[in-house]
Parts: sequence; C-alpha cells; structure tokens
Amino acid sequence: MNAFITPQNIYHGENSIERLRTIVRDLQVKHAFVLTDPALKELEVIQPIEDILAEEEVPYALSTNVVPEPPLAVGNEVLQEIREMEPDLVIGIGGGSALDLSKASAVLADHEGTVEDYLNLSGTRKIQSPGIPTVLIPTTAGTGAEVTDIAVFSLEDTKDVITHKHLLANYAIVDPQLTYTLPPKVTAASGVDALTHAIEAFTSVNATPLTDTLALDAMTRIVNHLRSAVWNPKAYEARKEMSLGSLIAGLSFYNAGVAGVHGLAYPLGGLFKIPHGEANAVLLPYVYHRIWPSCLDKMYRLGEVFNLSLEGKSKREAALEVVQSLHELVKDVGLPTSISAYDITSEDIEQLTSNGLKQTRLLARSPMPFDGASIRSVYQHALRGWE
Ligand SMILES: [Fe+2]
Repeated sequence: MNAFITPQNIYHGENSIERLRTIVRDLQVKHAFVLTDPALKELEVIQPIEDILAEEEVPYALSTNVVPEPPLAVGNEVLQEIREMEPDLVIGIGGGSALDLSKASAVLADHEGTVEDYLNLSGTRKIQSPGIPTVLIPTTAGTGAEVTDIAVFSLEDTKDVITHKHLLANYAIVDPQLTYTLPPKVTAASGVDALTHAIEAFTSVNATPLTDTLALDAMTRIVNHLRSAVWNPKAYEARKEMSLGSLIAGLSFYNAGVAGVHGLAYPLGGLFKIPHGEANAVLLPYVYHRIWPSCLDKMYRLGEVFNLSLEGKSKREAALEVVQSLHELVKDVGLPTSISAYDITSEDIEQLTSNGLKQTRLLARSPMPFDGASIRSVYQHALRGWE
C-alpha cells in the first residue's frame, strides 16, 4: 500500500496571491504574524501581501528574523516572537528558510520547550498538536518547502530537521510573479535544488506511481526551462514553468523522499555554510555518477527527459549520458562544479564523510546503499572535479 499526502489547499498560478484575501476572511483573522527575508521586505516583493492585509483590515506583525540555513538560535527567536504575539495566522513568505521557520514556529508555539527538543536526530519531545494555521508563500522556485512538513536547521557541523505532519501548511500559495525578479544565482541554485528533489524522488526506494508521474513532469519542466529562467530576465514563461516544476517536485519528494544528494549536501551546508541549492548542485552529478548502476531503468527515462537521442543505446550508455547532462546543466547555469570552489581541501574529506554517514534518514532512500567508502569517494570525486 502507498500513501500520498499533500497540504489541504494549494493555489498556484499568476495572481494566486489574491487567494490570501479569501483565506483571512474565511478564518476571520484578527492578528497575523508575517515572517519574511529582510531582502524581500527591502525589495518590496512582499508588498502585495501587506496590501491585502491592509485592505482587509487585518493587523499584523512583520518579522524579518530570517537567515539562510537558519541555526537553532534563530528558530528559537522566531518561536519566542510568535509565542509573545499569539497570532491566529502565521504567513511565511520567502525562500525555504522563511517557510521552514514559519511552519516549525507556528506548531511549536503551543508546545513546551525549544526547537532543539523536537529535532529528528537528537530531540526528546514529540509534537502533539497542529498549532497556529499557516499560509506558506514561496518567492523562489526551488525548495518545495510550501508543501512539505520538514523544517531544516543548521547545527554546528551539519543539519537536522523537525518533521511532523502538523508542519504541513494549511494553505500553500505558489504565485510565479513573486519569482520574476530573482537574480540569476538564486534562480540557478533553487532551480537545481528543485531538479534534485524530482530526480531523487524518482529514483528513491520509496517512489510510487504517483510520485513518479509528478517527478517526470517536474523534471521535464525544469530541464527545458531552467537555463532561460536563469539567463533571460524577461523569460516569464520559463519562470512560470520553474514555479510549477518546483511545486510539483515538492509534492513528489515530500512523498517519496530525497536521498544521497541531499544527505551528502547537508555536511557541506553545516561545515562550510554552502547554501542548500548550491550544495545539492555541486554534488548532483557526482552522486549519480556513483549510483546509476542501481537505477538503470529510471536513468533511461531520465535520458528521455533530457531529450537525449537514445536510439540503439544501451541502458548503461543512456545512464552515463544522463550523468554528463546533469554536469552540463549545473555548469550552464553558472554554479560551481567542484567543491574545491568552496575552499574545501583533501583534509576535509574525512570530516565530511563522517558527517555524511550520520544522515541515515536520507541515505536510506538511495537506490544504492551508501557506506563510508562510497561517501568518501563521492566527496573525493567532487573535489577533483569533472573529468
Ligand atoms: Fe532541497
């Protein structure tokens, strides 16, 4: 038996942000808490939300206490802000960090203790109740955080998550217009993150026919549109496709799970503070260079997604061409293709390997099991670079 779980309400497409108006009316919101990235406040990306709340006469508190790859301390600060204000709606708008902080704090607000008490690997307390209703509104096309129940936090040298079905948003609003001014580097990193979600879901040991269907659709949209979205500021159609592709990838990976790329990217974020999307992008070709023999049929389907001419080719040949295509995509969108670009040296490999080994929740979904030797070899290959 397979399950497929999503947030109750997902609105997407241009102008879907207007749906916020109906939501605050339906819920008769008296006091909202809005959490966003400082840069988005500055760039007025969140203006449409502020306008709707003002027009609907909903008082709100706005917090910009969001940092990329948030540490526990920031999580606890936001939690404190929400506990003090006691809002009846939490609106998270921004990249993955803003959404993760929103969903975790909205739930923990009516629980005892701190963020660390509820972490997946080291926490001692369990989430019991749904907390405050949430609206999650992404402004990047990548994380899928609006449709998952996972909130990621940075620890000293790695990452851990809070995950529980109560962290699922009550409402997800995915309006591509909010992504139109994203700079190329953020578009590239978040776009490859979305692609990684779809590919890892597609090859996950927990993949189902539903998650495969979504993953194939997401990968096709992303592979065909990411380059334009990154390099052509006026490519609005490509932006729309990326927005939808990211959402669909999110629905797929929330149910099938991500695996080795994310698992080995976490230590890069933890130890070297490499942003999540970039950490995935720099490892994506190397992980699949390692694991392709374990998922030959799926790799062949990926060859079709990448529009490779597969006639007369063996599954092995197709898989190797797909791995090469992954490398070319990362390179074409201007992201680093070796971890040496982040000043990582051979002396760091053991630490990375031992931290990577701890990501058992993620590694367990890889079609090829990972051990210390295979993790080490992925990092070593990513350090040498593509050859
Ligand atoms: Fe991701």
